[in-house]
Amino acid sequence: MDRICINGGQRLNGTIPISGAKNATLPLMIASLLTDQTLILDNVPRLADVALLQRILGNHGVDIMVGGKRPGETQYDGQTLHISAANIIDTTAPYELVSRMRASFWVIAPLLARMGEAKVSMPGGCAIGTRPVDLLIMALDCLGAEIEIDRGYVIARARNGLKGGRISFPKVTVGGTHTALMAAALARGSTVIENAAREPEVTDVADCLNKMGARISGAGTSRILVEGVARLNGARHRVLPDRIETGTYAMAVAMTGGDVLLENARPELLQSVFDLLARAGVEVTSTNAGVRVARNGAGIAPVEVTTSPFPGFPTDLQAQLMALMTRAMGTSRITETIFENRFMHVQELVRLGAHIQLDGECATIEGVERLKGAPVMATDLRASVSLVIAALAAEGETVVNRVYHLDRGFERLEDKLAACGAAIERVSG
Ligand code: EPU
Repeated sequence: MDRICINGGQRLNGTIPISGAKNATLPLMIASLLTDQTLILDNVPRLADVALLQRILGNHGVDIMVGGKRPGETQYDGQTLHISAANIIDTTAPYELVSRMRASFWVIAPLLARMGEAKVSMPGGCAIGTRPVDLLIMALDCLGAEIEIDRGYVIARARNGLKGGRISFPKVTVGGTHTALMAAALARGSTVIENAAREPEVTDVADCLNKMGARISGAGTSRILVEGVARLNGARHRVLPDRIETGTYAMAVAMTGGDVLLENARPELLQSVFDLLARAGVEVTSTNAGVRVARNGAGIAPVEVTTSPFPGFPTDLQAQLMALMTRAMGTSRITETIFENRFMHVQELVRLGAHIQLDGECATIEGVERLKGAPVMATDLRASVSLVIAALAAEGETVVNRVYHLDRGFERLEDKLAACGAAIERVSG
């Protein structure tokens, strides 16, 4: 198993290119199941989760061709996928695959909408919380699906097609909103989705579906209207930049000090994060090429923040912010409201010398003058990367084990950081 070794203490200076968003790529790839024509996706990141979803879709009969590199392209340019679901050969998604990537449960919506049936394994437990799928099932039920739960599988049927309806989510859910959008796109009549997730990845998926011929309005607000159509076509779509990767590197620069251009980053996708970093004393400037993040001289001021759905502070950056606040000049408070068990990084940060107290969903972080390197590991990808951020400022060597978590969501992490001066390398085996 690979490890990442980091010798802390180097400032970061230079340019980090931001990749396409993992959490838009996955539902966009799944949306290809809605049409028998080819969907072309540009700016797709090279990630373990993308490769795994290719295999999962392959199981349903989807053909995916990865475009070759063109002259002039650099290793950082995203890949182009040509995805064709012309022949769906299987409408079952088995436990072995769904349990390895929760988002693959979402295939239930396009399979049901296009084929009239789907049998998809329930995903099971997860390192960050219970993460049930009841609201996704509720959405399909509102569109007239017959649902049966049998031996760990959700079996959904709509022999005469889905019917538009009103879906009112009692709680904001990104996966629920993706599921509702894909199912409603091919339903007869109109659907209203209330309390919809406003995450930029939902808007990106809605934009792509509209290019495919769907009639969706209001994406990006909490009330989305979908006029169902009989069929969808192929299209070409460029995946939006990854706001979580952007925020992660912004916090890495804030941690080490230095001056880095986050190339292709879109500041409007993470205003809440940049506002918070500005309060912490970090300089953030939008430029034509992306976002420049700098901290020179000044210490890090402590902050108080609560995670919430977009446009609030994202849960996917909570661990990284906590790593940053371990070095703040005072006491910070971070409250996690989205997932009930997303504090697995706390004990590992403590191993590096951090002072953190947990009380239910609230963490109190007392800034310390220095962290010291140690072997650490984490159980999910955002927690793992928070350890990388801490290690960049820790004295001596930190070894981050279980690197496969990082590979799920961060493209060439060690190359991007090393290019800006970090002493970081991957050790195989
Ligand atoms: N929830 C339910 N019932 C449901 C669905 C969700 O109770 O049927 C709850 C969840 O347990 C959670 C809350 O609703 O407490 C929000 O979950 P949501 O459905 O929004 O999460 P998701 O769609 O499963 C996506 C991202 C996550 C990100 C969350 C929140 C992808 C592939 N995953 O998950 O990303 O944390 O939204 O923004 O888009 C990550 O990338 O590391 C990651 C975990």
